[in-house]
Amino acid sequence: MFLLDASIMGRRQVARGMFVIGMHAPEIATTVRAGQFVNLGWASGPLLRRPFSVYRADGEHIEVVLKAVGLGTAQLLAMELGDRVSCLGPLGRGFELAGANAVLISGGLGVAPMPLAARDARAVGMEVTWVHGARTAAELCAEAGGDRVIWATDDGSQGIQGTAVAASPDAEAVLACGPNRMLAAVAERWPHAQVSVETYMGCGTGVCLGCAMPLKRGGYDRACTEGPVYRAADVDWGALPSHLAYAVGT
Ligand SMILES: Cc1cc2nc3c(=O)[nH]c(=O)nc-3n(C[C@H](O)[C@H](O)[C@H](O)COP(=O)(O)OP(=O)(O)OC[C@H]3O[C@@H](n4cnc5c(N)ncnc54)[C@H](O)[C@@H]3O)c2cc1C
Ligand code: FES
Repeated sequence: MFLLDASIMGRRQVARGMFVIGMHAPEIATTVRAGQFVNLGWASGPLLRRPFSVYRADGEHIEVVLKAVGLGTAQLLAMELGDRVSCLGPLGRGFELAGANAVLISGGLGVAPMPLAARDARAVGMEVTWVHGARTAAELCAEAGGDRVIWATDDGSQGIQGTAVAASPDAEAVLACGPNRMLAAVAERWPHAQVSVETYMGCGTGVCLGCAMPLKRGGYDRACTEGPVYRAADVDWGALPSHLAYAVGT
């Protein structure tokens, strides 16, 4: 884990209201694995850091993807080139990648861990199908990729009409990220799927216990440390809040 004073290197729009921010964070870029996240803080920012999945990592740079859902995300999106962000990471347990093929299922902002997942899966020889869904075509992230891409929209304006889960084929490895209700549907169909789950977080490092993840077997563990990637059948979906930010705009 590294604590870096990272500078903002760029910003681009990838869907309606959805932006990718690049940062110079060499130690994190070279060590991060798919599904891990960074906890970001900045001068005049909120008291608590804000967690973001690493979207891409290349050379000395990492990227995160976000929408403005509150104070922290709005401030991040208002930053100028060269502004400094305190970047703690890589954090958490990422995806485990093994098998001949993988399907990546993302709903809306759930694209966040998927470019790295596609990269890492292909690096170990897996064939990658990426199924990306949103309410409407304008909200689909234009950067979904892989050996094959399947688009799904609620209104049928691009790709298959319906949910990304319904549009998805089976595969040896199923990786998913999106609103909790989508992940609960993934758990029904593929109990062995690996899902990246969102919770509220504080420290991001296992100390504050602010990220309790309810488990099917009873009790909780720490999403920042034992997660944020879980086996789908292990999460007590009924006990999770349904209003978290990945659900906004999806
Ligand atoms: C492991 C992990 C990875 C994440 N990756 C991404 C990502 O790649 N891209 C992305 O856009 N978001 C991601 N999030 C969610 C992101 O951290 C929240 O959107 C962010 O904390 C909201 O901060 P804010 O200051 O803008 O909103 P706030 O002003 O704190 O809250 C605004 C509203 O958002 C709600 N909210 C939703 N989710 C959260 C949350 N997790 N923490 C606090 N408040 C929340 C609040 O209840 C409130 O209603 C991730 C969260 C986790 C736990
Ligand atoms: S966020 Fe502090 S223990 Fe997980």
